[in-house]
Amino acid sequence: MLQIGDEVYLSVVFLLFIFGTRSAIGASAVTASFYLFIVMFRFPQVPVNQANQVLRPTGPASAGVPVIAHRGGRHDAPENTIVAIREASRNGATGVELDLGFTAEGTAVLMHDDTVDRTTNGTGALATLRLAEVRKLDATQRHRLREKFKGERVPTLQEAVEECIKHQLNIFFDVKDQADKAAAALGALYQKYPVLYNSSIVCSFEPKVIYKMRQADPAVVTALKHRPWSLSRYGDGTPRSLSAWMHCWLGVLDLLLDWAHHHLLWNLCGISVGVHNISTQYRYLDITLRDVIPTVSR
Ligand SMILES: *[C@@H]1O[C@H](CO)[C@@H](O)[C@H](O)[C@H]1NC(C)=O
Ligand SMILES: *[C@@H]1O[C@H](CO)[C@@H](O)[C@H](O)[C@H]1NC(C)=O
Ligand SMILES: *[C@@H]1O[C@H](CO)[C@@H](O)[C@H](O)[C@H]1NC(C)=O
Repeated sequence: MLQIGDEVYLSVVFLLFIFGTRSAIGASAVTASFYLFIVMFRFPQVPVNQANQVLRPTGPASAGVPVIAHRGGRHDAPENTIVAIREASRNGATGVELDLGFTAEGTAVLMHDDTVDRTTNGTGALATLRLAEVRKLDATQRHRLREKFKGERVPTLQEAVEECIKHQLNIFFDVKDQADKAAAALGALYQKYPVLYNSSIVCSFEPKVIYKMRQADPAVVTALKHRPWSLSRYGDGTPRSLSAWMHCWLGVLDLLLDWAHHHLLWNLCGISVGVHNISTQYRYLDITLRDVIPTVSR
């Protein structure tokens, strides 16, 4: 189905090709193919009011301002744990951001890094550890309040979701990669707990993750995250150490990616929200997930 705004893209494609090739038939064929591609592969957006229920909580505590505890609120409790979710709720958060990882047998658990080294007393890649092994690890080991939360383990995604539902917290699922596994695991949870449709959002920097999620269940609210110049520069803005040529090339790719984010990807994936650092001039909401709990609790 055509959407408002499509005529702009279709006209641009047509004009580019007609000037480039001087062939009306060629330009028409290319434009028609582009149209078919969009129609066949595009997912529609979920209704705006559904997305708004997640993004603009109406509870009295929040006064309409979403307060999202990053990694469950990692300042006040060990990140991505059940106690972190409880603390976030106690401290007045309206939602939590949780990171997905997968064990060797493919069970979804909460883990930000690829390895368990930084947050637990174990070592090694999460993907090489079985759930039973992950369960033995102490998830508080490296936290400043480890004595207070002693014995806390790495939760499965399902346990975390159940805890969030219990506290009526919105969930921002942050998916780094493994699009197929994430879409399957999350899709199953949405089926099991339909309240998630109105209270959670699947976020990723990877368009593929969002696309697979929409494919698994088009009713899920999704957000595509984007940091300008992410290919050529680190998060703090310093250039990645590369040859001058490589830096230029990645800069060009950054521009293309930026363009795709604003003009193609949101449309193709039917994204509800673009989590974007700087720009609100497009159809994007400007939301930055951050560690908000410390400022709220003080
Ligand atoms: C990590 O800590 C837990 C709880 O204290 C303990 O049972 C486990 O053996 C420890 N694991 C390693 C690898 O040190
Ligand atoms: C989501 O919210 C809408 C509008 O408030 C409501 O009609 C719908 O039943 C809700 N769905 C679930 C699964 O809670
Ligand atoms: C993103 O926003 C934060 C907070 O406003 C700012 O400190 C940071 O420099 C921004 N990053 C980029 C890449 O624009």
